[in-house]
Amino acid sequence: MGQIELTGDVYYPSPETIANANLKDRSEFDKRAEQDYEGFWADFANELDWFQKWDKVIDDSEKPFYKWFTGGRTNISYNCLDRHVKTYRRNKLALIWEGEDGEHRTMSYFRLHNDVCRFANLLKSMAVKKGDRVTIYMGRTPEIIIAMLACARIGAVHSVVYGGFSVESLTERIEDSQSRVLIVADGAYQRGKIVKLKDIADEALQRAGTVEHVIVVKRTGQDVYMEPGRDMWYHELNKLPIANQPCVVEETSSEDPLFILYTSGTTGKPKAILHTHGGYMVGTYVTTKYYLDVQDADRIWCTADPGWITGHSYIVYGPLLNGATIFMYEGAPYHPYPNRWWQMIEKYGINILYTAPTAIRGFMRFGDSWANRHDLSSLRILGSVGEPINPEAWKWYHRVIGRERCPVIDTWWQTETGMHMISPFPTMPLKPGSGSLPFPGVKMEVVDEQGNPVKANEEGYLIIKTPWPAMVRTIFNDPQRMVDQYWTKYPGAYMTGDSAKIDEDGYIWVIGRVDDVIKVSGYRLGTAEIESAFVSHHAVAEAAAIGVPHEIKGNAIYAYIILKQNLQPSDELIEELRKHIAHEVGPIAKPEHIEFVDKLPKTRSGKIMRRVLKAQAMGEDPGNISTLEE
Ligand code: WT7
Repeated sequence: MGQIELTGDVYYPSPETIANANLKDRSEFDKRAEQDYEGFWADFANELDWFQKWDKVIDDSEKPFYKWFTGGRTNISYNCLDRHVKTYRRNKLALIWEGEDGEHRTMSYFRLHNDVCRFANLLKSMAVKKGDRVTIYMGRTPEIIIAMLACARIGAVHSVVYGGFSVESLTERIEDSQSRVLIVADGAYQRGKIVKLKDIADEALQRAGTVEHVIVVKRTGQDVYMEPGRDMWYHELNKLPIANQPCVVEETSSEDPLFILYTSGTTGKPKAILHTHGGYMVGTYVTTKYYLDVQDADRIWCTADPGWITGHSYIVYGPLLNGATIFMYEGAPYHPYPNRWWQMIEKYGINILYTAPTAIRGFMRFGDSWANRHDLSSLRILGSVGEPINPEAWKWYHRVIGRERCPVIDTWWQTETGMHMISPFPTMPLKPGSGSLPFPGVKMEVVDEQGNPVKANEEGYLIIKTPWPAMVRTIFNDPQRMVDQYWTKYPGAYMTGDSAKIDEDGYIWVIGRVDDVIKVSGYRLGTAEIESAFVSHHAVAEAAAIGVPHEIKGNAIYAYIILKQNLQPSDELIEELRKHIAHEVGPIAKPEHIEFVDKLPKTRSGKIMRRVLKAQAMGEDPGNISTLEE
């Protein structure tokens, strides 16, 4: 690959990187995918276990509701655990975990499998059946992984709600999914404090009525309310003989739902993105193996939370499918000191670190010395995800953390894509800030409003023109919304909601969202959720939220508020509103700025013109305002 002449700022792989990589030369994959796309994916699928092989790799008879590996029967939890327990891997560590308080635990594949079977038996004893939704609301402890895999084992559909979300976000997600069972922790440690998850859940359960059973996992140990007949401690249930029975795995079909995960869209409530056992399994297996280059002896640390797609795919499923060792850390990055992460990389010999640009920028401000005092030589691959990585942060990550030995794998993807879609393989030349090329065989374009490809280095809308195995199957409860949202604007193509440029070498540079999604510290939030939380406060008549650039967070939330008549703006009210948002949506949605106004710029049809607000917040010219009402 060294011979290719690329333009601009280019980093070439070292001979060591090439010698060690799972995939030496991507052109093998490109060729195979070009000749026989379905056969290319079937080969990967054949590396995993199936109770029954598929009849068809891609079924496009009802597109955009594509199906993959139809007729096949498999189970992702079986492939993550049982498949390895039958081999030498039974005694291998599946998981190393460290709590924020320094406590640590390890689990072999044998042990994890055992705990998953026991948990699955408990769910079955609560009459959880195939297809039933189970909501999981916990911090980063081993039980969240056990609970997810237990659901998958019996064909139940997990709906993990990020532990940083709060009452209204949790209520909405429980209600929409109609979960009968909630799995919750008493609390989680964050920056030395306890987040009282069970209290938040109790409040949500007063608003949402579907839940009959609550399994409570003890982590922080403070007193919690336990409702008789509804709430039970996990450690007590786990002692019951029923937990100890054999747990036969559900032989799910490829297209049986595995999980739903709520994500913010352009309008209205968050959407429940649905993924399935077969295609999602193959997609996460392959991308973990070749992009993150996970190998048998590797310890991989994906710093995301299991409550987001990154955690689903690259903390839990992808690494376990590959038989690797997961590392998971409970707490905040800079707690108690900014060397906490580097200390753990040294202590546990982490080989692959996969994190977000916002975290990297956060570390940069503390300087190089915190990292420099640690031996980081175990690291082989550095990954980035969640938002565009600015070249400055890329270079710092490469130099200070990777010591110029480790390729930076900048992976672009989404909750909806389930798996990495644009990324360099470790052996490719890298350009800081670009995710390079789409997965072999996947065609992507950058187009204008009409769907015509734009010229090199011109900005346009990023679309995907080829189906891929982990693609979103539907929006749970609202299939029409999936068609309208992703598949209507450009017929036959999937609309990502991002803008991008493609350079003269074909490298893709993702710029950011073109819809009403705001990426705050890599977290995906919708203006609609924030605004509706504002107006649920008694003082607020109307609200508009926008994202403005922020040095560390990427974007920060700027909110414009119209107060109800006769109410006066004050600093106390600003503080109260910020607390209200944290209580309803979650601390991540706390606005950076709140400004009180008398009017909001609207179109004649009443739609808030966020573009005008953004220009105002940034002191820029609002451009064309001919559609403005007044
Ligand atoms: C949006 C999807 C995919 C896992 C985490 C986020 C942005 C994600 C990158 C990247 C530039 C990125 C996009 C995308 N994004 N990764 N490497 N470079 N932008 O999943 O919460 O569904 O958000 O995150 O804007 O559309 P998500």
